[in-house]
Parts: sequence; C-alpha cells; structure tokens
Amino acid sequence: LTRIAVFASGNGSNFQAIADAVQAGELQAEVALVVTDKPQAVVVERAKKAGVESFSFIPSEFDSKQLYEQMIKEKLEELEVEWVVLAGYMRLIGPVLLEAFENRIVNIHPSVLPAFPGKDAIGQTMAAGAENAGVTVHFVDAGMDTGKIISQESFPVAGRDRAAVEQKIHEIEHQLYPATLQQLFSR
Ligand code: GAR
Repeated sequence: LTRIAVFASGNGSNFQAIADAVQAGELQAEVALVVTDKPQAVVVERAKKAGVESFSFIPSEFDSKQLYEQMIKEKLEELEVEWVVLAGYMRLIGPVLLEAFENRIVNIHPSVLPAFPGKDAIGQTMAAGAENAGVTVHFVDAGMDTGKIISQESFPVAGRDRAAVEQKIHEIEHQLYPATLQQLFSR
C-alpha cells in the first residue's frame, strides 16, 4: 500500500473523501498522517475520527519555511510516507519538501487551470464571468498552481450561483481526487 500524508488547512472534506475511499477499498493507499498549519482546523477532528495521526504546527513560531518544512520532512520520513497529497493546504511548498518528494507531491485546485490560480479560485471564476468552472489535480512545483496537470473536470457555470458552483466543485473533487490518486499509485 502506498503510504500518503494529506496536508490540509481547513474543513478537510477532501481528506474525508480520501479516507473514505481507502476504507471502501477504492483507493489502495494508507493515510499515514494529516499535516496541518492550523491546529484548530476541522480536519484535525476528522483525522482523529478516522484513526489517522495528525501533526500540527504554527508557521509563525518558526523563523523560516525551511525550518518548519525540515521538521515536517523528518516526520514524513519517520512514518515512511511516499506521497504528499495537498487538500486545501493554503501554503506554497518550499525547496525542502519539493526536493525530498520530487514528483510525488500533488494538489487539487478549484478551477480549470491554467485559469484562475491562487486564492479564491471560485470567486475569481465567478467575477470573470467564465463560461466553465471546474477542478484540476496537478503535480506541485515551486510555482502557485503551475505544475503538470494530471486530471481535470469542468462544467458550465450558466444557471448556477456561487453556492451552487461551490457545491458542484466539491462533489467533483470528492470523486476526482481519490480516483486520480488510485491511477497514480497503480501505474
Ligand atoms: C478545496 O475546494 C480545494 O480545491 C481548495 O480548497 C478547498 C479545501 O476544501 N484548494 C485551494 O484553493 C488550493 N489553492 P476541504 O478542506 O473541504 O478539502
């Protein structure tokens, strides 16, 4: 089984979808760890319920990204984690983790990349009056949502308000992420 760590900063509904897919036997992986930069995030509670260890840190308590990533890296190595799965982790990954997990860090982003990278992609999509909204799973590089695209799904915005677009995006994410991970790990 491929050992993964899920990094999240918030609600963790994508962590939940991944954990559920593992539980259902649809994703052949083991979630070894949840990593969060927000110790109070809902994802920590979800991890506990799923029986997954979580590792919280407070970025402002460190002098640099290099220092906290070094600490995360040691934890990941101790648990023999093979892949890093970003799921609503709202920070750029730095050189320490990029080098330790080269081509083994993936992210999910709520837009049809390369359109609307960065924060509040759904808001950006709505404000631009874009024809389509959607979801992208991609490899992580040093840029902001710029790595090689692995999978993508889109749908027309027409007739949907922001809440409906958001709901549809989450529905897609919860299917697409576990399915894409399964494909990656079985190739
Ligand atoms: C997801 O919609 C994910 O695509 C997005 O954050 C949400 C996290 O939801 N990620 C980004 O915007 C990354 N730039 P969750 O905490 O319920 O999984």
